[in-house]
Amino acid sequence: MGDYKICIFGSGGVGKSCLVIQFVQGVFTPKYDPTIEDVYTKTLEIDEKQYSLEILDTAGSDEFSSMRDLYVNSGHGFVLVYSITSQATFNDVQRHYSRIIDIKDIDTHGRPAIVLVGNKCDSENERVVSRETGQELARKWNCAFLETSAKDRTNVSEVFYDLVRQIARK
Ligand code: GTP
Ligand code: MG
Repeated sequence: MGDYKICIFGSGGVGKSCLVIQFVQGVFTPKYDPTIEDVYTKTLEIDEKQYSLEILDTAGSDEFSSMRDLYVNSGHGFVLVYSITSQATFNDVQRHYSRIIDIKDIDTHGRPAIVLVGNKCDSENERVVSRETGQELARKWNCAFLETSAKDRTNVSEVFYDLVRQIARK
C-alpha cells in the first residue's frame, strides 16, 4: 500500500479547501473560512491497488513560510490551484511552481508530480483566464491540467486520481 503526501498550493480564496473537502467528504461549503493549516486523509483504490493519501491543505495567505519548504521537501505530489475568475491567482501559481522546482532536486528525483488546476469553472460568466491559457502553462511545465468546480464536483476526483497515478509511475 502506497503512502502518499500531497500538498495543495495556491492563492487565498481560489477554493483549495473546498476541493479537498469535496473530494474527501463529498460536500461543498459556500462560506469562506480561510485556512491556517489542515491535514486530511483518504484511502483510494486505483487500478486494484490501495493508496493512503495524506493531503495537506495550506493557507493561501502566508505564501513563503519556511514551513512551506518543509512541506515541499516531504511532498510526493502537488496540486497547484488558481481560480479561472482571477488573473492574479493565475500569476501566483507560477511563483508556487518555481518554488517547488527550486526546492525539489530534479536531477535526483526527476520532475515532481504536479496537477495544475483552474477551479470555479462553474462561474463561466466571471471567467478571465481562458482554458487555453491554462493548457499552455501546463504544456510548458509538462504536467497535467484540469478545470474543476468544487461546487459542482466537476473533475474533483480526477485531480487526485491523476496525481496518484503520476506518483505511482515514478
Ligand atoms: P485559503 O484557505 O484562504 O487559502 O482559501 P482556499 O483556497 O482554501 O478557498 P476556499 O476553499 O475556502 O474557498 C473560497 C471561497 O470560494 C468560498 O466562499 C467557496 O465557497 C468558494 N468556492 C470554492 N470553490 C468554488 C467553486 O468551484 N465554485 C464556486 N463558484 N465557488 C467556489
Ligand atoms: Mg483554505
